[in-house]
Amino acid sequence: MEKEIRALKAQKNAVVMAHNYQPLEIQALADVVGDSLELAVKAKETAADLIVVCGVRFMAETAKILNPDRKVVIPVEDAGCPLADFLTPDMIREARRRHPDAAVVVYVNSTAESKALADVTCTSANAVRIVQSLSNDTILFGPDANLAGYVQRELPEKTIIPLPPGGHCYVHAGFTLADVEAARKKGGTIVCHPECPPEVQERADRIASTGGMVRDAAAGGDEPWWVFTEREMASRLRVLYPGRVFYEKPEAVCADMKKISLPDLRRALESGEHEVVLPPDVMDRARRAIERMIAVGA
Ligand code: 13P
Ligand code: SF4
Repeated sequence: MEKEIRALKAQKNAVVMAHNYQPLEIQALADVVGDSLELAVKAKETAADLIVVCGVRFMAETAKILNPDRKVVIPVEDAGCPLADFLTPDMIREARRRHPDAAVVVYVNSTAESKALADVTCTSANAVRIVQSLSNDTILFGPDANLAGYVQRELPEKTIIPLPPGGHCYVHAGFTLADVEAARKKGGTIVCHPECPPEVQERADRIASTGGMVRDAAAGGDEPWWVFTEREMASRLRVLYPGRVFYEKPEAVCADMKKISLPDLRRALESGEHEVVLPPDVMDRARRAIERMIAVGA
């Protein structure tokens, strides 16, 4: 299967991009593995004819928006992100009416339609820097309320309004004080994603995006790490840093991230299914917001 996939990649001049939460056998066949910002930036740089995104739908949509003339496919059509569905275009329009002086910052974990209504997008790696780059005092920020809270704590001079108030990722919302206590008992460094609840963030040693975890781990240290995010992240870190100890929470599984299997990847390369198709005007407006984010930098 692996040999066939490699051959198909060459034959189709395809690039395979995988998120850090993808199953390891998919990561092993990918040309790019990274967090959502890295995938967005690399999608923009590629010269491939076919871009296969192994992740969830918003990641494939972002790659398509940045590469409107290339064919972008997602191997499993219904691999979505429940967090993205918290924010609707109507919510953004209504919030803008109520807060005409506010800027709208939309997390990339969102639909293309929501991005099209944003002033700028952000990822968990650059959310603070993006908000900091705006002159507006008030920021409408969605859909993740825990990430909004993280930005608010980092930038107390701003007023961050979460949109909607309770938007969350069920995987990260599942981390609790009991997980912190268990980790503290065993010892080590707790590294948590900013989508985790505030009480967990406050007690963690570090807060980082998945790409930030890869970079921070590269700096070394021999303490075990508790990786408070989707459990595959710890597997990825073990591959990258074989001498180190990384603990995961076995229950922290993003079901949609596990939908893509090797046969799905082979089928996608062979048949070019399932192509991401979006209305051109939505793509144009969303691209402006994503490119503004990329211009500010990670
Ligand atoms: P990162 O941008 O940190 O990779 O996060 C994406 C995501 O889906 C988190 O659950
Ligand atoms: Fe969405 Fe959460 Fe899965 Fe990330 S882990 S893709 S935020 S559901």
